[in-house]
Amino acid sequence: MSNRASFSGKAGFILAAAGSAVGLGNIWRFPTLAAQNGGGNFLIVYLIIVLIFGVVLLCTELAIGRRARKSPAGAFASLRPRSRWIGILATVVPAIILPYYCVVGGWILGYIGFYATGVNTIGDSFFGDMAGSTLAIGLFVIFFLLTMGVIWMGVTKGIERLSKIFMPLFLIMLVGLVIYSLMQPGMIDGISYYLTFDPSLLTMDTVVAALGQVFFSLSLAMGIMITYGSYMRKEENIEGCAISIGLIDTLVAFLGGLLIVPMAFHAHMGAIPSGAGLVFITLPSIFDGMFGGEAFAFFFFILLFIAAWTSSISIAEAVIAAIMDRFEISRKKAIIYVTLPVLVVGVIISMGFGPLDFIQIHGKGLLDLFDFAANNLLMPIVAFATTVLIGHVVGCKVIEDEISESSDFKLRSVYPFLIKWIIPIFIAIVFASGIATMFT
Ligand code: PHE
Repeated sequence: MSNRASFSGKAGFILAAAGSAVGLGNIWRFPTLAAQNGGGNFLIVYLIIVLIFGVVLLCTELAIGRRARKSPAGAFASLRPRSRWIGILATVVPAIILPYYCVVGGWILGYIGFYATGVNTIGDSFFGDMAGSTLAIGLFVIFFLLTMGVIWMGVTKGIERLSKIFMPLFLIMLVGLVIYSLMQPGMIDGISYYLTFDPSLLTMDTVVAALGQVFFSLSLAMGIMITYGSYMRKEENIEGCAISIGLIDTLVAFLGGLLIVPMAFHAHMGAIPSGAGLVFITLPSIFDGMFGGEAFAFFFFILLFIAAWTSSISIAEAVIAAIMDRFEISRKKAIIYVTLPVLVVGVIISMGFGPLDFIQIHGKGLLDLFDFAANNLLMPIVAFATTVLIGHVVGCKVIEDEISESSDFKLRSVYPFLIKWIIPIFIAIVFASGIATMFT
């Protein structure tokens, strides 16, 4: 495809890719993991893994995409025709994530509305009742349409323009909220817990948790960075962009932790719940006791909304681009075909909190099952297959050459060793531990 869309320049590309990377994972997954894994220890391990593994894998995916200028299936087929399946599997991941991510996005919209209108969100069953209600289904539909609306406008006019406005706004709001939260009384213990590094408490669990989080947080192994890479111009410096994206994403995660860990630590003395429970139950009750808590909560949910929106846009784009390429149809047609199935699946997932809540496997409801299938099963398989393909089958040179086209590749000397051995071995460990958690 010669007239493939492209990002107009470096800033637009970095902000759009960072918009994908900065998501709910930074605000509700990272802080919880940090709190559970010894605060400062987790921070250090995470930083090392992002800078080495994260950046290397990000470079690899961007290069695979840019080299082929195709979405994942075509891009993998152009490396080796028999490896098309990796690209197909990589596209299945965002297709699974899209509906449930939008369900969560809908809840966030709901909380923005509740705080704007003064609805009391505190109370044992408030969140559960809301998630299982018809209102939640409606909110899911709105969030999904907001996502598709941006995709409809295209790569430059939609995704890039939106990211250029909202990512800077996001950062400013985040810093403001962090400062305000740290001015609350009693934060010192939590801050020092979050920032203290104690090597004697470092465990393998911390490393595994950090590694899984790096994948999720950088939107790796789900076709997204390959798709965004395919919109990258040849003169752009892949390695430089990958480092910027990794740093922005890590900075946001760090600030997310600074926003949440000390507050939660103060309220709960260390036992911080994860995921939806943290954001929709624990935090609202903490905000409730704060001076100016209502306004704080309102801005907090706006912040979450921006994070979730720019991520869900990238998830949807990966799916739409794959369909456009596969069936050689226009963007608008692809959107129309995708909309109905996602709406149906999203409504079913949403009903998993209400009338369909009897559907459970190993104590996991529908949303958790989708999440598990995507993040714990398929993502590691795609990541592992990608590194084996590049490291042992087609050779690292294709990637090194693509990256070197626009700049010299500084990690070149360590790249083959990491891609061939270190990274796949670690991925296998994360995969095994993910499966193990399913059965414990
Ligand atoms: N990287 C995003 C985050 O940190 C999540 C995400 C998942 C984005 C899947 C795209 C696809 O929340």
